[in-house]
Amino acid sequence: MALSFAQTPSSTLEPYRPSFHFSPRQGWLNDPNGLVYYKGEYHLFFQYHPDSTVWGPMHWGHAVSKNLLHWEELPIALYPDDLGTIFSGSAVIDWQNTAGFGKEAMVAIFTHNVPGLQQQSIAYSTDKGRSWTKYEGNPVLPPPNRALRDFRDPKVFWYGSQAEGHWVMAVAAGSSILFFTSPDLKTWESSGGFGLQGATCGVWETPDLFELKLDNSAESRWVLTVGIGGCAPAGGSGQQYFVGQFDGQTFTNENDKKQVLWADYGADFYAGQSWSDVESRRIWIGWMNNWAYAQALPTGIFRGSMNLPRELSLRQTPEGIRLVQNPIKELESLRTQLRHWENLQISEGQNLLEGISGESFEIRLEFQVDPLIDKITLNLRVGDKTKTTLGYSMKARKLFFGRAESGLTEFHKDFSLNHMADLAPQEDGTIKLNIILDKASVEIFANDGLVVMSEQIFPIEGANELELFAQGGSLTLKSLSVYALEGF
Ligand code: FRU
Repeated sequence: MALSFAQTPSSTLEPYRPSFHFSPRQGWLNDPNGLVYYKGEYHLFFQYHPDSTVWGPMHWGHAVSKNLLHWEELPIALYPDDLGTIFSGSAVIDWQNTAGFGKEAMVAIFTHNVPGLQQQSIAYSTDKGRSWTKYEGNPVLPPPNRALRDFRDPKVFWYGSQAEGHWVMAVAAGSSILFFTSPDLKTWESSGGFGLQGATCGVWETPDLFELKLDNSAESRWVLTVGIGGCAPAGGSGQQYFVGQFDGQTFTNENDKKQVLWADYGADFYAGQSWSDVESRRIWIGWMNNWAYAQALPTGIFRGSMNLPRELSLRQTPEGIRLVQNPIKELESLRTQLRHWENLQISEGQNLLEGISGESFEIRLEFQVDPLIDKITLNLRVGDKTKTTLGYSMKARKLFFGRAESGLTEFHKDFSLNHMADLAPQEDGTIKLNIILDKASVEIFANDGLVVMSEQIFPIEGANELELFAQGGSLTLKSLSVYALEGF
């Protein structure tokens, strides 16, 4: 039975219930798990504690969507059992029935956790993910040695052609990723490891590994993404990635060992995972949260939501190859255009967005960088003494975000810290910002997705105004569009 999923009962009852980002009806949510597309449905499983709004014995919650925006929450897919609670993992469609679970079985690969022991297990469904059977031979992959206590979050995919290929599993182990291969999802052999590179100041978690085209050319690279429990640019947990090659057995980094690449410079993108079995695009989603304060969010009967799904690509930049993320094109279906300007001069102190108010917007702007002026500032959810501030500092060439005055902030001391990211102008000297605002979040995609910042906010009721200012001089905007986003 599907639970009806009312995302917007009333903004006064649940002011922080997102309207087009997924959140569970009630209880605690963390990582996205088991992302797979099958027969017109995007499946989103998630780390779930149904009985409380803090982390506890993990289950896999479940939701499905046809457009990645409007989600229907289904009953819990996987419950804890004798082997432990159900930690993060992935899902695939076993097109060739390699495991023998049935035609086109959906197979979930997850970590069974008990204190001190993490091992990989599988479960399957032959009814589009509605009911699940755990494999009687679990676990399928115990840790290579009992001293390895962090051995979790298996990401599985098929490598190679149908006839010649094999399954690959990437598992997080301390500050490394271990790789295994299998013909049938049940028996796994070690095939290599990668680690102690990039950022290693926290435990590595939730790996993903996929191939992406470079600038839509014939050339491609493999991208290994890794959640890291601490020391991310905005503090706390964050998402790093490596660019290189994967030969079916193991991954090699093409950059210097010490180079650290971050997928998100905001505080709230973690445990990113991409969907299996989506044709011709790679889409991923993260847990829109940070372990630093996740258990203290002031949201009510649910705690935790997902980021907006993003389409991934690779771009050659003067600094090297970088991961690029843009909101899924489906988001356009929620838009109503409110304003559009081109080549508009704004003088200092003039608020171009005066009179526009609301909770959910997409704001797209492009401007010429002018080092003679200080900055361009956008204030969101502005109310009596409250606002969320973002903008671009022309001299420092930095994107900045501040939520110290954004509304409820006192639930954790780190929530008020300011966040920044280096952002060079594009070749033509312009900066592009695409800002997606839902009831309790701001996601910023700069220069067509080259630099991204994801941030939660908890504004005071009625703080609904927008402001856009040039500071330290007047500025020409190449273009500015404001859309209202109509959620569910
Ligand atoms: C990441 C994580 C995973 C683990 C899960 C437990 O946020 O710590 O490594 O499987 O959460 O809920």
